[in-house]
Amino acid sequence: MNSFNTFGLAAPILRALAEENYVTPTAIQSKALPPALAGRDLIGIAQTGTGKTAAFALPILNRLAADPRSPEKKSCRALVLSPTRELSAQIHDSFRTYGRHLRLASALAIGGVPIGRQVRALMGGVGVLVATPGRLIDLVRTNALRLNGVETLVLDEADRMLDMGFIQDIRAIVAKLPVARQTLMFSATMPREIAALAGEMLREPAQVAATPVATTAERIAQRVIHTDRAAKPRLLVEVLRAEPIERALVFTRTKHGADKVVRSLAKAGVEAEAIHGNKSQSQRERVMAAFRSGRVRVLIATDIAARGIDVDGVSHVINYDLPNIPESYVHRIGRTARAGAEGVAISFCDAEEADYLRNIEKLIRKSLPASGERRGASTSAPQRSVPSRPPADASARAPATGRRRQRGRGRDAAAEGGASAAAGEGRSAWPRFLRRPGATRRDPAAPTGAAER
Ligand SMILES: Nc1ncnc2c1ncn2[C@@H]1O[C@H](COP(=O)(O)OP(=O)(O)OP(=O)(O)O)[C@@H](O)[C@H]1O
Ligand SMILES: [Mg+2]
Repeated sequence: MNSFNTFGLAAPILRALAEENYVTPTAIQSKALPPALAGRDLIGIAQTGTGKTAAFALPILNRLAADPRSPEKKSCRALVLSPTRELSAQIHDSFRTYGRHLRLASALAIGGVPIGRQVRALMGGVGVLVATPGRLIDLVRTNALRLNGVETLVLDEADRMLDMGFIQDIRAIVAKLPVARQTLMFSATMPREIAALAGEMLREPAQVAATPVATTAERIAQRVIHTDRAAKPRLLVEVLRAEPIERALVFTRTKHGADKVVRSLAKAGVEAEAIHGNKSQSQRERVMAAFRSGRVRVLIATDIAARGIDVDGVSHVINYDLPNIPESYVHRIGRTARAGAEGVAISFCDAEEADYLRNIEKLIRKSLPASGERRGASTSAPQRSVPSRPPADASARAPATGRRRQRGRGRDAAAEGGASAAAGEGRSAWPRFLRRPGATRRDPAAPTGAAER
């Protein structure tokens, strides 16, 4: 199906999609919308950046549009859970965007901010509540929220929500939901043992997979640089200077490590900010906003930013440390090359991380090319400078022009689940050596324009 008009979505939803320049449904949207709109349970697996949010948001909004009765007081009709505050906030924004022509009452319930406002927002009941599990449980415990009116439950990043860190909370929440409900689960990865657990919470689910599980996006040029731990700080500066960075997301294993990288970059004259669990929520929000706007171009993060975060113009993901959970690699690098764009993922691998690299390569069924091994602290001269200060008018930079248009053109690439795509003139901005070998130059007949949040 190549148009949103074929799903029977309510007119106000179609209008919002048109305004967002969503012309062609992506593969996961085409596959998931019919069963989800029919009220079936569903488990949907598709590559990062291919529009899973709309795949669950649109059926929920359509149900609310078709049956617009007011929710009960202190209750919600749809409950969407995600693992991080930032992702829940982003999903809530998506509901507001797709539902902007509906009379939609929605709320966001996340930790780290005062609970009072959330309690008040839920007082009259809402159609859609997007939450992180901990805060949701607090709201239920204090009787600010009842869950017996939930018609649809969504677990976004389902494999993460069902792993050891969250499973107890999720079980406690699910126990309070009506048995007769619709449950939708989505992720880009689904380890087998977690799939079994997911199955226990679903009733005769439709299983839709837009691409083989954990296939890494074809449009991400991935490589590894073997290095010593001691050489990593200098290597990062060198990579940031050598690469044509629009926005870079640098992942470290620890919060402390993230702060250390910010300091070492500052010494080298590269401005960066960090986001991790030891920062206050107001700091986290400020840094995310600065990264989204382009004011901060280099963001150092722990895995808190690995899942679901959708920031336009992330051209590079750098794994300063390799993740010990191979699925994390898939999610981390998926912060680039979203919605048909392309991107670069560079991973630093020291001797102690060799096993992590092996496990990642096993999961993605692909060996990562290695380049430019670095040992010790000495390095070659930088080739390109990263501005230590943002340009005066951030909005006048590349994302507003070349890259965004390229994104729009590449939308069909997302629809193809990332099959070789998004060639076209936009690539000329990319140095030849960064181009994916064997990429066919194909200009997909994709919708024009871009959907910016
Ligand atoms: N049909 C569409 N047409 C154009 N753009 C789309 C379409 N569907 C989604 N997008 C855009 O694609 C981007 C990625 O969408 P989304 O965040 O839902 O991906 P995802 O599959 O959930 O990725 P992840 O696995 O990383 O969470 C967003 O910017 C969204 O606005
Ligand atoms: Mg997502």
